[in-house]
Amino acid sequence: MKSLPKGVKDDNLIVGYESKDDAAVYKINDEVSIIETLDFFPSMVEDPYLFGQIAATNSLSDVWAMGGKPIMALNIAAFPDGMEPETIGKVLKGGAEKVIEAGCILCGGHTIVDEVPKYGLSVTGIVDTKKVLTNNGVKVGDKIIITKPLGVGILLTAHQCNIDTKEDFNDVVKNMTTLNKYAAEILFNYKVHALTDVTGFGLFSHLNEMLNDNASAKLYIDSIPTINDNVKKYIEDDYYTGGAIRNEDAIKEQIDFGNAKEWIKQLGYDPQTSGGLLCSIDKNDADEAIKELKKLNMKCAIIGEIVEKSEKAIYLL
Ligand code: CO
Ligand code: CO
Repeated sequence: MKSLPKGVKDDNLIVGYESKDDAAVYKINDEVSIIETLDFFPSMVEDPYLFGQIAATNSLSDVWAMGGKPIMALNIAAFPDGMEPETIGKVLKGGAEKVIEAGCILCGGHTIVDEVPKYGLSVTGIVDTKKVLTNNGVKVGDKIIITKPLGVGILLTAHQCNIDTKEDFNDVVKNMTTLNKYAAEILFNYKVHALTDVTGFGLFSHLNEMLNDNASAKLYIDSIPTINDNVKKYIEDDYYTGGAIRNEDAIKEQIDFGNAKEWIKQLGYDPQTSGGLLCSIDKNDADEAIKELKKLNMKCAIIGEIVEKSEKAIYLL
């Protein structure tokens, strides 16, 4: 590179702030672009090592969601004054292990003092400039694939209320600590038109962001996978999060619920931590891709299709 760009308005910034995408993408040349993302949050589990793993898995995800692979990462953390160095060490160890599993290099970071512990990563990735996957390139006729089941927010709420089982906790932790790397590496072999990951805004809102001005989506509600059967049970017992209520307010006007049961609605609003990839894939590739994804031993499914733009953004079938 002979000269460096002078500002963010540079034409080389091919994905910026406007499209609410997973990460920013900067074109180095026609072959290589770099991806930049940052994510960190307070702990949702007591175990510091698991917290580190979950936060790192979540932070890395946005790089795969752009079609790339992570190459380097920096820790970003806040710990209270007087927190045991051993506890801090466990958070950082959990994070570092996930960075290594991702095939990425951890090369430093920054920690500040704060009352509430927080942890995450800033991640740099690379991607073939011609293969950048934005979140809004859907084509009418595409199938919609989700690569992890839903219910993280609900199961974590149940855990905080001490009504969950040991299996529930293990299931939700497995969901949050499984890297999206493996699903992405499969999906990258097929004709993927748009890709994002399902996180705090829940399935409905993340799907809505994928629908450009020319498209609506139909969701096959009976196909949407849940982490386990208790997800439905806890929703019916009214365990859901404040995040779900905010998500509902933000998106409900744009959904035709058909005859969907109330619990399915709540599932679609449920905020995911380190959720799966949401993929709009050429309809001729969907069956083969899902067959390969199922080999990863993570519940995944074809949950809908992209249709011509209609009155509502999302139709539940
Ligand atoms: Co994302
Ligand atoms: Co993010």
